[in-house]
Amino acid sequence: MMGLFITIEGIDGAGKTTHLKWLGSYFEVRGRQVVVTREPGGTPLGESLRKLLLESDGAIHPETESLLMFAARREHLERVITPALREGKVVVCDRFTDATFAYQGWGSGVSPARLDVLEEWVQRGLQPDLTLFFDVPALVGQQRLGSDRQRDRFERERTDFFERVRAGYLDRAARFPSRIRIIDATPGIDIVRQSLEHIVASY
Ligand SMILES: Nc1ncnc2c1ncn2[C@@H]1O[C@H](COP(=O)(O)OP(=O)(O)OP(=O)(O)O)[C@@H](O)[C@H]1O
Ligand SMILES: [Mg+2]
Repeated sequence: MMGLFITIEGIDGAGKTTHLKWLGSYFEVRGRQVVVTREPGGTPLGESLRKLLLESDGAIHPETESLLMFAARREHLERVITPALREGKVVVCDRFTDATFAYQGWGSGVSPARLDVLEEWVQRGLQPDLTLFFDVPALVGQQRLGSDRQRDRFERERTDFFERVRAGYLDRAARFPSRIRIIDATPGIDIVRQSLEHIVASY
């Protein structure tokens, strides 16, 4: 059986983590072995880098951020993603490289040509089989995260930052239309889930 690599994308508060769990169980009840993981993170080193990236108090240069993201990704591919795919498993990953292009590229101004180089260096042509982009306006994402929640470095960004990130995701979706599927994530959870189920039914 062939492995299947699915990534979940969207701005903060779009509903990625909400639908991730359902997606994992969707494949499990169909007899597949599923690995649910996330970026940055997914390995002990990756989770340490995640802590540095999300919880650091001071500013981190966006190119440094990009390098750390791809460093964590290299490790994640080596230790988790590639072995699982070789064993025929379904890998469902909360964020992957499209997020680096959207956040560090479109959000923070890192040149996409530089990110292209890192992507090739780290992935050597490996791409997700399917990317689900949960699309919401920045304000909706911000509202969903609420005001009571402790926010990480990215979640503290302003609405215009998230609108740039969203534009970055839409640009990626236009470039890779057969890989990236856009899901309107503005309606309620049940409606969004129906759109999701409709897409994954053919996998
Ligand atoms: N379609 C929806 N309608 C209303 N609320 C939703 C919807 N989807 C998710 N939520 C709620 O919005 C909040 C954020 O959802 P979730 O944590 O899944 O977002 P996320 O994309 O994983 O965010 P982050 O990037 O910060 O991890 C949660 O409280 C969740 O219950
Ligand atoms: Mg989440």
